[in-house]
Amino acid sequence: MTYRVLFGLPDAAQASEAVALAEESGECTVLDAVTTAGAILEGLTDRQVDAVCLHERLGPLPVLDLAREIATRFPDIAVVLMAREQSQGLLRGALQSGVRGVVTLPLSLEDLQATVASAAAWAQAVRARLTAEDTEDQLEGRVLAVAGAKGGVGATTIAVRLALEAQTASRHRRVCLIDFDLQAGDVRGLLDLTHRRSIADLVEVAEELTARQLDESLYLYPTGLRILLPPPDGEHGEYINGYVARRVLGAIRSRFDVVVVDVGSYVTEAAAMAAEIADQVVVVTTPDVAALRAANRLIALWERLQIRKDGIGVVVNRASKDSEVQADLVRRVVDATVLKAAIPADFRALEAATNTGKPARLADGPVRRGLTGLAAELHLIAPRERARRGRWRSQRGSVAAETMGLAFTIGVVVLLLWQAVLAGFTFVLASHAAREGARELAVGAATEQIEAAAAASLPPAWLDSMRLDPGSADVTVQLAVPLIVPGRFLTPIDVSARAGTVVEQANARPPAIAGGIG
Ligand SMILES: Nc1ncnc2c1ncn2[C@@H]1O[C@H](COP(=O)(O)OP(=O)(O)OP(=O)(O)O)[C@@H](O)[C@H]1O
Ligand SMILES: [Mg+2]
Repeated sequence: MTYRVLFGLPDAAQASEAVALAEESGECTVLDAVTTAGAILEGLTDRQVDAVCLHERLGPLPVLDLAREIATRFPDIAVVLMAREQSQGLLRGALQSGVRGVVTLPLSLEDLQATVASAAAWAQAVRARLTAEDTEDQLEGRVLAVAGAKGGVGATTIAVRLALEAQTASRHRRVCLIDFDLQAGDVRGLLDLTHRRSIADLVEVAEELTARQLDESLYLYPTGLRILLPPPDGEHGEYINGYVARRVLGAIRSRFDVVVVDVGSYVTEAAAMAAEIADQVVVVTTPDVAALRAANRLIALWERLQIRKDGIGVVVNRASKDSEVQADLVRRVVDATVLKAAIPADFRALEAATNTGKPARLADGPVRRGLTGLAAELHLIAPRERARRGRWRSQRGSVAAETMGLAFTIGVVVLLLWQAVLAGFTFVLASHAAREGARELAVGAATEQIEAAAAASLPPAWLDSMRLDPGSADVTVQLAVPLIVPGRFLTPIDVSARAGTVVEQANARPPAIAGGIG
């Protein structure tokens, strides 16, 4: 292992002696040997140093004060003290100032090399760990923070919906929703959860957060969404400081593909950390001047506190055509990008889902479509998934159209068949009536009697259209064919039937029938 060292000694002669000894091992690269505290601090700022060796008489600062400053400003650099006497008082002071090793003066090769090597090895290990953590944080899931411009604008409603959309878009996607509105968070209420475990259980173990501890604190929602809740008692929210928030967010980000954080509308330490770490922040506003001003205030506050400047999108919730503030005005007034998606105002649409804690009860409609559009614009739903949904919808549409067309065709066929049955039945009725009339004619009855006999054999619906024509040896009955519903409408088609009779035969055979449709 090789390491880089900076020396601080009060005079040049001592410096060159120390450099020569240090370099004898072949593992140590001496970057410089300087004679003041100021030069040491400058050297540490400009170069990558593993260990800094300070002579006890290096001025102008007391050397332990300098050691403390180095430990605070450069926590991954090891400080080695070179001192004449290793008294208990000196060792205690050195320890308290963050010194990692003490070498006795005058310098000996062995002592110097062993102490500096072990201090430098420690520094390199710390740096490796820090770098690994940073890389881990960068590589893993996408974090989206949702903030309310002010209270009650719908931030939680939107955060919950976005997380659900992201989860249901793909069964295999790991999605986590974090409620960082630590005092007033209401994800628990909005999803009707009774889970008691929360981020408060992670405070003690934040430094060394294991997968198991994290898993135990997350609530598993039936869709597969994981949820980290705020402490059930709001006052415990103050334990979640920036450090805890960073550790927890880092651990969750490394285990999930998408992380949605509801940061509420107050800039707490945890909320600020989430807004800073997030890849994108959505500020929810309503279309009114007070909320737009609040959105600008929040964005300016983030900038002043150096929490965040870019990657902020403003979304308008409860948009309405009747509102005085329309998208154009929002775009002109707000100091950030205004997202294309807007969610219309419709309390009724959300009512059932909100009151029952069952988001699935949000019916298909403008609000749902607005939320899905927002998820797509924020790339929580991949275009592919959206396209698939679109295709599904269009497929569903064409299936519906085909079904309607088929039903119409079937209906027309049934009606035509029914009409044919009515025509056939009218012919049967006409034949029957003609036969009855012919019977009367056979016994020499008058025309009225013949007509009465024929009419008596007909159902009332056919009676009005009957025309009877008695001949010398036969009777003809003509009936109009009803249209669909007998008794209401008539077709222009007439059916006629003729029945003949033999007057001289007392026991007449059934009369011969002839007929046609005209
Ligand atoms: N588009 C909308 N149309 C009508 N009502 C809405 C809409 N969006 C949200 N709401 C309603 O507004 C109320 C407040 O919503 P929500 O709790 O999400 O706001 P919030 O910004 O998280 O509030 P808080 O500051 O309390 O955290 C809820 O009753 C919700 O149903
Ligand atoms: Mg809320």
